[in-house]
Amino acid sequence: MKVLGIVGSLRKESYNLKLANLIKDNIDYEMEIVTLENIPMFNEDLEYPAPKSVLELRDKVLNSDLIWIFSPEYNNGIPGVLKNTLDWLGRPRSEELGQVMSKKKVILSGVTPGKFGTINAYNDLVQLMVFLNTNLMARPRLTIPNAEFNLTPDNHFIQDAIKALDRFIKQ
Ligand SMILES: Cc1cc2nc3c(=O)[nH]c(=O)nc-3n(C[C@H](O)[C@H](O)[C@H](O)COP(=O)(O)O)c2cc1C
Repeated sequence: MKVLGIVGSLRKESYNLKLANLIKDNIDYEMEIVTLENIPMFNEDLEYPAPKSVLELRDKVLNSDLIWIFSPEYNNGIPGVLKNTLDWLGRPRSEELGQVMSKKKVILSGVTPGKFGTINAYNDLVQLMVFLNTNLMARPRLTIPNAEFNLTPDNHFIQDAIKALDRFIKQ
C-alpha cells in the first residue's frame, strides 16, 4: 500500500508540510510527500503533451493507493497553487485515457495557526473531490487550528485520522 501526500503550501517552514511529515512518520504505510513548486500555471495551450512535472505527478497519483492532501486555508478557500494542480490532475491524459483522480481514495486535511481550523478550504476540497469522482473519506475531518500547539504525534485529531486511514485503505 502506498500513500501520496500532496502539500498545498510552497513555504519552507509550512505547517502543512510539517503535518504531512508527522503523518508519514506515524503510519505503517510507505508514503511519499510532494510539493508543487514545479507545476506550471494551467494553460489549455500546453495540455498535450502536458509538461514533464505534470506527467510525473500524474504517474505518482496513478501508482498510489491513496492520496492525502494537506492544504492551508487562504482567504477562506484553497490556495491557488493547489487548485492549479488539481486543474492539471483533473484533465484527461489523452483522447483514450481519463483523468488520474477518478476513483482514487482521498483523505483531506489542513492546519492553520488560526483558531478555526481549515474547514472552509476543506469544504472547497470536498466539492472538488466529488467533481473529480474520487473515493473520499468523509470522516474524521482533519482540520487543525492553533498550529503552534497542535502538531504533535499524540494530538487526538492526528491519532484519529491515522486510525481512520487504516480502516479506509483496507476497504
Ligand atoms: C494569502 C493568505 C490568506 C490567508 N487566509 C487565511 C484564512 O482564510 N484562514 C486561516 O485560517 N488562515 C489564513 N491565512 C494564514 C495561513 O493559515 C498561514 O499563513 C499558514 O501558516 C499557511 O499554511 P502553511 O504554514 O502550510 O504555509 C492566510 C495566509 C495567507 C498568506
